[in-house]
Amino acid sequence: MPHAAAPVVTIDGPSGAGKGTVSRGLAKRLGWHLLDSGALYRVAALAGQRAGLAANDQDGHAVLAATLKIVFSAHPDGSEQILLDGQDVTRAIRSEEAGAGASRVATWPALRQALMARQHAFARPPGLVADGRDMGTVVFPGAALKIFLVASPEERAQRRYNQLKGKDSGVSLAALSREIEARDRQDSTRPVSPLVRAEDAIVVDSTRLGIAEVVEAIWRLGAQRGLWQG
Ligand code: DC
Repeated sequence: MPHAAAPVVTIDGPSGAGKGTVSRGLAKRLGWHLLDSGALYRVAALAGQRAGLAANDQDGHAVLAATLKIVFSAHPDGSEQILLDGQDVTRAIRSEEAGAGASRVATWPALRQALMARQHAFARPPGLVADGRDMGTVVFPGAALKIFLVASPEERAQRRYNQLKGKDSGVSLAALSREIEARDRQDSTRPVSPLVRAEDAIVVDSTRLGIAEVVEAIWRLGAQRGLWQG
């Protein structure tokens, strides 16, 4: 396995369960690398759109995904910055529309395969925290610790609403609930790499927990396994 060189913690789960923030917090605390695999699907969908590919051109999107120049870095203020061919797409990929586009192209096997090597390349010493839908089941099946992060649908819609307020104007809580439900369905029922809990994943429910408490819970689980000093 190309990623055996570094320990991997996978954090999978549905939209809005807090995977992104928790993964970032854990990676920072550990000083490990971070893979935001959802961002790769979002960028792939956006790149296809910008290249003028037909919305159903699966092969075209897969070829594009294999060759995209994506750079994950930080703005001067420390916030995340994602560059596609040198262009800042950080805001563009975070809209609900971009999320829906990502969920659609993510159902295509060739595109998922095209992003595989790119994801494995993130597993470098001292370690990797990988956030997504199939991190523990398909991309890093040998991960040292697998978390399946869940939260109630109401709580997830509310969090997404709070996140998007001011960024994606005109979005309503009711519309977000419907979109999250539709995305859950599409992500969980697709034949390739559906969102399912890996058999050896530990379920963490973040409905009533703050970010710091979730990071702490995962930290303790890793320490119990001897992955790091508690
Ligand atoms: O985590 P996110 O909302 O940024 O992900 C956007 C979409 O990308 C999500 O609806 C499904 C897809 N995705 C995927 O299929 N596999 C992953 N490992 C990560 C995301």
